[in-house]
Amino acid sequence: MKKYYITTPIYYVNDVPHIGHSYTTLAADTLARYRRLLGDDVFFLTGTDEHGQKIQKAAKQIGLQPKQLADKVVENFKKLWERLDITNDFFVRTTDDYHEKCVQEAFEYIYKKGDIYKGEYEGWYCIPCESYYSEIEIGEDKTCPVCGRKLDLVKEESYFFRLSAYQDKLLDFYEKNPNFVIPQTRYNEIKSFVKMGLKDLSITRTSFDWGVPVPFDDKHVIYVWFDALLNYVSAIGCRKGDFDSIWPADVHFVGKDILRFHAVYWPAFLMALDLPLPKHVVAHGWWTVDGKKMSKSLGNVVDPNEMIEKYPRDAYRYFLLRNVPFGLDGDFSERELIERINSDLVNDFGNLLNRSLTMMEKYSAGRVKRPQAVSDETLRNLASETFEKVKKHLDVFRFDEALIDIFDFIKSANKYITVKEPWTLKKQGKEDELGEVLYMLYASLKFIAGIIRPFLPDAAAKMSQMLGIKGDEKIDYYLDFYNVDEAEVKRSGVLFKRIDQKEKEEKKEEKEKRISIDEFFNVQLKVAKVLEAEAVEKSKKLLKLKIDIGEEKPRTLVAGLKEFYKPEELVGRYIIVVANLKPAKLMGIESNGMLLAAKDGKNLALLTVEKPVKPGASIS
Ligand code: MSP
Repeated sequence: MKKYYITTPIYYVNDVPHIGHSYTTLAADTLARYRRLLGDDVFFLTGTDEHGQKIQKAAKQIGLQPKQLADKVVENFKKLWERLDITNDFFVRTTDDYHEKCVQEAFEYIYKKGDIYKGEYEGWYCIPCESYYSEIEIGEDKTCPVCGRKLDLVKEESYFFRLSAYQDKLLDFYEKNPNFVIPQTRYNEIKSFVKMGLKDLSITRTSFDWGVPVPFDDKHVIYVWFDALLNYVSAIGCRKGDFDSIWPADVHFVGKDILRFHAVYWPAFLMALDLPLPKHVVAHGWWTVDGKKMSKSLGNVVDPNEMIEKYPRDAYRYFLLRNVPFGLDGDFSERELIERINSDLVNDFGNLLNRSLTMMEKYSAGRVKRPQAVSDETLRNLASETFEKVKKHLDVFRFDEALIDIFDFIKSANKYITVKEPWTLKKQGKEDELGEVLYMLYASLKFIAGIIRPFLPDAAAKMSQMLGIKGDEKIDYYLDFYNVDEAEVKRSGVLFKRIDQKEKEEKKEEKEKRISIDEFFNVQLKVAKVLEAEAVEKSKKLLKLKIDIGEEKPRTLVAGLKEFYKPEELVGRYIIVVANLKPAKLMGIESNGMLLAAKDGKNLALLTVEKPVKPGASIS
């Protein structure tokens, strides 16, 4: 049986993992779990992209060899995937031997075929994006259409991939496979891009050396995208071993920014390699944070590690997959995440389990039994309809829609309780009817524990335990409402705890007040020697100081010290002054700086240095 093969992009190691990376990986993991639930044999791959000029530069900046940087950063990714309980079957690194060998073999294969040739390339190149852009794409100002940075005009000897020869074949392939690129809007974009005409692609570089060398010409290293895309093939044996039982990929998950590489270049490379093409390339949108683009300089990069320390990892996963239609851009806000937890996970989902189990424990000592006859099959029918809908949505990778339907089922089960009023049945002594209601609830919960497993694996596991069922059955088990003769349930804890929004916001505000190290270093602290000190007339608080701060002339500084120090006590002391404040006028005197002192209510003590140093010495 062919395995169902799912991939994530391989992540660059010049960055720490953020919400965007976790999004692609969580979506892929959810699909992997879902396909296993259906009974498929899944192969799920993720990894890291470790070559290229960007990585070489980043390593140099911090005084490391590129491989040393990669070895360090790769751990951040691996650890995060472990914390998120990502179920990948393999982790590929482009610096691994088998991968490098595979890239060289592929290069040689296409070269021998004549679709790689040597030439010279001149073009507008974006170093951070490692991409050349055509004149049409970059416009007048020669800036990168993706990241906006200035482009360099670069000329170099290069090997080219004959992409132009694949234009018609690609268009033909798109026509025959309308679901190759998902969503539809992206499919249309890709088709028009290819229709506009494809130029041959420069696929080697001589300007740096951190990459896989061209096997027969080691002055050249292979273009990072040719190298990177081949991970999908190298990781599963590179045409050997199990390769044929895994390839082609069923789904490549990618962000919209890297769709062209996967939907145009990659299929062309594969055609040149005489390999079958992937079934789907699914492009998701981009996350902003509180309405703003995520960036290091804004300091708003969401660290998934931090999120799953604050919230259950299931909730983080749920929010990402539920809040945004898969394929569109989305905005991350903790406030909305908390709202989702409180409304969907606590009120609807957690509450259904909790109240159902409470009734089972109270009315029938925690035991449910299959009824002799069933009078109302609403929930059973709804469950199979829900499954059909979920299946339809996940066939086109709409995680959000699938979750909406699952949660509609949860709402219906809650409504079933309200309508059936088991407490009244108990009071009226209608034991058979009560037994049926409790059993139907049990079977519904069993169904939920199964169908929700790909999305909320922790909650599903907890729930299964409380229901006394195994947590790893296939879908048929969960869909069959009557396959359990008798069961014993046991409440233990809650699935999700309500989050106090206000408390969280206060904590956040407190945190936001913190400053970065850069902001701190903007404040220039210097040692100053007090040369003269005198009281400011008519002021109860102020003293006027003349200080030597290592400049040509002494500075005047006015400070609120009168109640705590006599002027003569200060002369000769070495104090600490904020030296780069704008001048301010106090009682008509211009003050140039501010001295540091500690205050505990009544007392005030000057900050001084422990032994004399040169006036003007900086505080570090
Ligand atoms: N190394 C290449 C991929 C090579 S695959 C053969 C790469 N790496 S990346 O680390 O820069 O990005 C990987 C993924 O993260 C992409 O799918 C990208 O879309 C995604 N994201 C990066 N920032 C993102 C957001 N702000 N929001 C959502 N996803 C984004 O590209």
